[in-house]
Amino acid sequence: MTKSSVIFSIVNQKGGVGKTTSAINLACAFAQRSKKVLLIDMDPQGNASTGLGISYDQRQNTIYETLINECKIEDAIIKTNVRNLDIVTSTVDLSAVEVEIATCNNREFLLKNSISKITNKYDYIFIDCPPSLGLLTINTLCATDYILIPMQCEFFSLEGLSHLLTTLELVKNNLNEELKIAGIMLTMHDRRNKLTEAVESDVRSYIGEKVFKNIVPRNIRLSEAPSHGVAGLIYDPKCKGSVAYQKLATEIINKKYNNVSRETINNEIYEAKRN
Ligand SMILES: Nc1ncnc2c1ncn2[C@@H]1O[C@H](COP(=O)(O)OP(=O)(O)OP(=O)(O)O)[C@@H](O)[C@H]1O
Ligand SMILES: [Mg+2]
Repeated sequence: MTKSSVIFSIVNQKGGVGKTTSAINLACAFAQRSKKVLLIDMDPQGNASTGLGISYDQRQNTIYETLINECKIEDAIIKTNVRNLDIVTSTVDLSAVEVEIATCNNREFLLKNSISKITNKYDYIFIDCPPSLGLLTINTLCATDYILIPMQCEFFSLEGLSHLLTTLELVKNNLNEELKIAGIMLTMHDRRNKLTEAVESDVRSYIGEKVFKNIVPRNIRLSEAPSHGVAGLIYDPKCKGSVAYQKLATEIINKKYNNVSRETINNEIYEAKRN
């Protein structure tokens, strides 16, 4: 039987919540388990590309050229310094795409169509999103099987979450019926902060099962790693942050998502918003 990738996207329109850090470290954790993994950088900031040590000189063919049909996705794939982990990079050029594809007929499905050519080559594809809900994120959601939502335990996070869930519901109802939420990942968690605990308990009581058990703590080693061009998991495998991402990866791999029906998820979204 031909292999077909499971596609995870890391989505949150709020900036600086740990999307890229989660994308890099989870992709790396999956690759370390002998899975063939591709990380796609869908953010014009190109942080995932830089964080995995890909220089600007190496970014001749990026996701931008792929989306506007100037190169095949196969020709935009670069090997990283992690075994089993490849990347499709981005540069600031990608920010022009939203305007360039705005009048295309198929504008929401350009990424999905590109990815379809390589889903037999990877076990897992991770997509790192920009901090917005524009066409780049919509393209990502249309290509995605499971969404991972990183969330910082801060007061404004809950407000953002409700807006995000509305968008996911719209995409699910109109563009990608198969879209599912894998779960919410609590990031940059600080046990010493009382507000952190309060927000965590709010989120768990609203969305319950959808919040992953394993939490990623605030950990300086994770924030140092990108400047060395490697994932935190490689930079310091034993630090608390890396250990947490490994546990989270295990939880994500082991979770059974497939039998959750569309109605159940829609109800969950509805309940979450009502609260
Ligand atoms: N668990 C953590 N502990 C300490 N620092 C972290 C942690 N996770 C992320 N950071 C740091 O916080 C900053 C924001 O993280 P990151 O870039 O992953 O967020 P993002 O959601 O991708 O941001 P953007 O919305 O700009 O794309 C970075 O400097 C990163 O190194
Ligand atoms: Mg980012």
